[in-house]
Amino acid sequence: KKRVLKDALKRPLRDLRISVIDRCNFRCSYCMPKEIFGDDYPFMPESELLTFNEIMRLAKPFVQMGAEKIRITGGEPLMRPHLSQLIERLSVLEGIQDIGLTTNGVYLVKYADTLKKAGLQRVNISLDALDEKIFQTMNGRNVKPHAVLRGIDASLAAGLHVKINAVIKKGVNDGEILPLAKYCKKRGITLRFIEYMDVGQSNGWNVSDVVTKKEMLHKLQHIAPVAPVEKAYFGEVAARYRYVGTNTEVGFISSVSDAFCASCTRARLSADGKLYTCLFAESGHDLRALLRGGATDEQIERNVQSIWHYRTDRYSAERTSETAKHRKKIEMSYIGG
Ligand code: GTP
Ligand code: 5AD
Ligand code: SF4
Ligand code: SF4
Repeated sequence: KKRVLKDALKRPLRDLRISVIDRCNFRCSYCMPKEIFGDDYPFMPESELLTFNEIMRLAKPFVQMGAEKIRITGGEPLMRPHLSQLIERLSVLEGIQDIGLTTNGVYLVKYADTLKKAGLQRVNISLDALDEKIFQTMNGRNVKPHAVLRGIDASLAAGLHVKINAVIKKGVNDGEILPLAKYCKKRGITLRFIEYMDVGQSNGWNVSDVVTKKEMLHKLQHIAPVAPVEKAYFGEVAARYRYVGTNTEVGFISSVSDAFCASCTRARLSADGKLYTCLFAESGHDLRALLRGGATDEQIERNVQSIWHYRTDRYSAERTSETAKHRKKIEMSYIGG
C-alpha cells in the first residue's frame, strides 16, 4: 500500500524526472552553450551512469511514496543506448500512470516506433524556431528545423501524444512565437511557450532576456482568441489555454513571471544517481553511493522519505537578480529540466 508523503510545505511527491545521460547532440545557447560545453567538457564516463537495474531499484521507493508519473530526460535521452529497454521496464511498474520523454526530437525518426512499442505514451519535443537560420544558431549545431519536424511526424505516426516546447529568448526568437503557434494550431498539436530561466551557471541569464507569459499571450491575439483551460491536476506546470472553437491547446510555463513552486511535486534523479529536490538546487543527495555501498531497498526508501520530508525548496518563488547570478546551481543538461 502506498504512503503518500508530503514535504515541509505540504507538497506531495507525484512526479519523478529521471535523467539518463548528460550528453546532447545540440548546444542550445540557453542550456549547453558551445563555448562552455566544448570538446574537452568532462561529461560523465559510462561507469558513473546508473545502470538500468540501478534506475529500476531507485525508482521503486519513489513509486512507493506516491510517484505516479515518470518523465525521462537528459541531456538528450535518446543518446542513451537501448533506452527503450528501460521504458519497457518502467512502464510496467505498478502505480505508474504516465510515462513521458522530453527530447530535442532528432532521433525520433529512428526510435519513435520502438519507444511506443516499449510502452511510452508521450513525447515533449523542443522546437524553438521554424526559421532555419534562427534555429541553427539557437541549437549551436547547425541542425535545421526540418530534422525536428520529421521527428514530430514520426512520433505522431507511431501513435505517441506529442507536445512541443519552445523556449523564447528576447531578441533571439520572439519573432518565432506566431509562426510556431500557427504551425501547431494548424496541426492540432499542443505548444507550450517557456519563459527563459536562469538554470545552471553558464547561460548568462539576464531578466531582460525573458519574454513573459503575459507578453506572449498578448501576441497570440493576432492568431485567434484563446480561453483558459482548468488545470488537469494539482501541480501541473503549464498554464493551459484553448483556441476558442477548437480542441487545440497552447500553454505557458511561467517559472519567472509567475512561479509555481507552491504546487511543485517533482523529484529529479540525475544520470549519476543524485536526488535533487529542485531544478535550481545547489547539490543533490547521492543515492548511487547508497546503492553501490550495498544499502537495502528499505534503507534507500527511508533515506528518500526523510529527504522529501524536510524539503523546503521554492527557488522560483524567491528568485532575485542576486540568486540568479550568484547561486551555485546545477546545470540543466545534468538534471534534465
Ligand atoms: P508534462 O508532463 O507534459 O506537463 O511535462 P512538463 O512540462 O512537466 O515537462 P517538460 O520536460 O516538457 O518541461 C517543460 C519545461 O518546464 C522545461 O523548461 C522545464 O525545465 C520546465 N519545468 C518542468 N518542471 C519544472 C519545475 O519543477 N520547475 C521549474 N522552474 N521548471 C520546470
Ligand atoms: N530556460 C527554460 N527552459 C529551458 N530548457 C532548457 N534550458 C532552459 C532554460 N534556460 C527547456 C528545453 C526543454 C526542456 C527540458 O527544458 O527547451 O524543452
Ligand atoms: Fe540539448 Fe535540450 Fe539542452 Fe538543447 S535544451 S542543449 S536539446 S538538453
Ligand atoms: Fe519546484 Fe524548484 Fe521549480 Fe519551484 S523552482 S517549481 S521548487 S523545481
